[in-house]
Amino acid sequence: MKTAKQIQEEFEGYLQSLDYSRQPDSLYVPVRYTLSLGGKRIRPTFLIMAYNMFADDVERVFCTAAGMEIFHNFTLLHDDLMDKADMRRGRPTVHKKWNENVAILSGDGMLVLAYRYLSMTSGPELKRILDLANETFTGIMEGQQYDMEFETRDDVTEQEYIEMIRLKTSVLLAACAQMGAVLGGASETDSRLLYEFGEKVGLAFQLQDDLLDVYGDPAVFGKKIGGDILCNKKTYLYINAYNLADDGMRSELDRWAAYDGDDPESKIAAVRSIYDAVKVRSLSEKLIASLFDEAILKLDAVSLPASRKSLLREYAGSLLNRVL
Ligand code: IPE
Ligand code: IPE
Ligand code: MG
Ligand code: MG
Ligand code: MG
Repeated sequence: MKTAKQIQEEFEGYLQSLDYSRQPDSLYVPVRYTLSLGGKRIRPTFLIMAYNMFADDVERVFCTAAGMEIFHNFTLLHDDLMDKADMRRGRPTVHKKWNENVAILSGDGMLVLAYRYLSMTSGPELKRILDLANETFTGIMEGQQYDMEFETRDDVTEQEYIEMIRLKTSVLLAACAQMGAVLGGASETDSRLLYEFGEKVGLAFQLQDDLLDVYGDPAVFGKKIGGDILCNKKTYLYINAYNLADDGMRSELDRWAAYDGDDPESKIAAVRSIYDAVKVRSLSEKLIASLFDEAILKLDAVSLPASRKSLLREYAGSLLNRVL
């Protein structure tokens, strides 16, 4: 079996060797820019590692993995536009480096490119993979729609938030793990367990992303800190802070939500200090830890010897900074 690092190196070689140059070049320059900036490559790694639990010829699923990674990158281009984000992977976002229309159209280009690679999947499972991709991608759009709509609501519940992140983030990780299993010839039960494993890791991963958006180091995170606060995102942190806040803090949160001034840093600092005062950070960290434990239970239930599951287990732990 291959380690996450080996898989990532081999897959990166494959991804960077793909040639998507056509005319007009200006349509493809932002695509190459986006795909050459790295990123953690979590989704293809999940897919390939899940496959490798059941089969050895990992190269067989590189095209499927590329399709899922390119799709992910497409969502980022449009997400950055929707979230007014200037930085990603330590570099200017496509709509900042070029303009909004370029981000829309080169994003569209990547969506089609994603399907080109997904449809290259070999074997009798192709239809199943495409069906799973369609259902997954539909879910992501639904999650993104909720995410946007929640910005202007002040009564979003924790349950609604969890369902929103399940859709916008988890289903993609889940589908990647499941696709790897399906292509590797896993049973229906094992494929389902890997889906559920990916789903739990995905929830924990988005909770952690929301935490890093407030408390992260921009040099490591690659994105600007405080973007979620500026967009009035209804994160787990915000929802719980709002519920735990006293009247004074709550009216302060309401006031900052309506803020339209030219000092974004003050808004970020003020909201963060309320998060600190009501200690929502540790609440979020606890939920991340328990979701990770639930994920591991799913992986444990897969009908393979522990030795075939330990690499994926460690990789998922490393994503959530957990020592196993
Ligand atoms: C960013 O995903 C979007 C979220 C689901 C939080 P990643 O954090 O996996 O982004 P890259 O691909 O590594 O840049
Ligand atoms: C990402 O959510 C979800 C999708 C891109 C579908 P975020 O908006 O939190 O992701 P980042 O923080 O911009 O990477
Ligand atoms: Mg977003
Ligand atoms: Mg975003
Ligand atoms: Mg985020």
